[in-house]
Amino acid sequence: MRFSWNSALLLAGIIDVLVTCAEATKPAPFVYERLDKNDSALVILDMQEGLFSLARDYDAILYRNAMYAHAELGKVFDLPVIMTTSAETGPNGPLPNEFLNMYPDVKVVRRMGEVNAWDNEEFREAIKATGKTQIIIAGIVTDVCTTFAALSLREAGYSVWANHEASGTTSVDIREQANDRMREAGVHIVSYFAVVCELMRDWRKSPGALELLPILDRYLPAYGMVTRAHLAAINNGTIQPGQEDIP
Ligand SMILES: *[C@@H]1O[C@H](CO)[C@@H](O)[C@H](O)[C@H]1NC(C)=O
Ligand SMILES: *[C@@H]1O[C@H](CO)[C@@H](O)[C@H](O)[C@H]1NC(C)=O
Repeated sequence: MRFSWNSALLLAGIIDVLVTCAEATKPAPFVYERLDKNDSALVILDMQEGLFSLARDYDAILYRNAMYAHAELGKVFDLPVIMTTSAETGPNGPLPNEFLNMYPDVKVVRRMGEVNAWDNEEFREAIKATGKTQIIIAGIVTDVCTTFAALSLREAGYSVWANHEASGTTSVDIREQANDRMREAGVHIVSYFAVVCELMRDWRKSPGALELLPILDRYLPAYGMVTRAHLAAINNGTIQPGQEDIP
């Protein structure tokens, strides 16, 4: 075949198209989004005394601990807090007094009918008024109140972080399906300890070890006991026979 500038140009065009296609199918590089305490707000959603009995996917003691741990995140990290309830004068009941006493200056958004908190204008305004982009959320029940609000927040452009230990529902299966549904919508499904450590970033910061070790002792006893044992060993510990023989 005789070389011609036309066929050379055609070939160059084909190569260009192939390279563009290859680039288009390359997966986008992974971006690790981190919680930033400067950008975060905390939502305490329908953690009402009546609804508490619907949280059957966790032991009641474990779940109450997780709710209180979630609520106190706002205090230790100085986050704006939004508390909301659903039909609280009916069987759903009020928020436990501990939450109200924790945040005496926060006005509870009392929804009189809206299941999805985002359908309530006062709630939407309260979220917008924080000026924050990352919303940490948990509530009762996982598959309704938490999921509906989380999906609406995603649709409205927020980054949503569901503390999955602090949402409760009627069964483990329902919880798993709800968490999957949220995850598919780009909600970060995270544990309490993950939220704490994402917000803290570094033990030397403030809040850091000084502020968080007492809180972890209260809400994450596995970690609390590690630090207690370490303290006791330093204060008055002796090495037991046999310990030093362990490689
Ligand atoms: C938050 O804001 C402070 C003060 O502006 C800044 O020093 C810090 O890097 C920001 N981010 C985090 C994660 O602390
Ligand atoms: C240290 O441990 C020993 C042995 O149990 C005990 O007799 C002593 O009172 C302890 N001292 C302190 C300061 O706790």
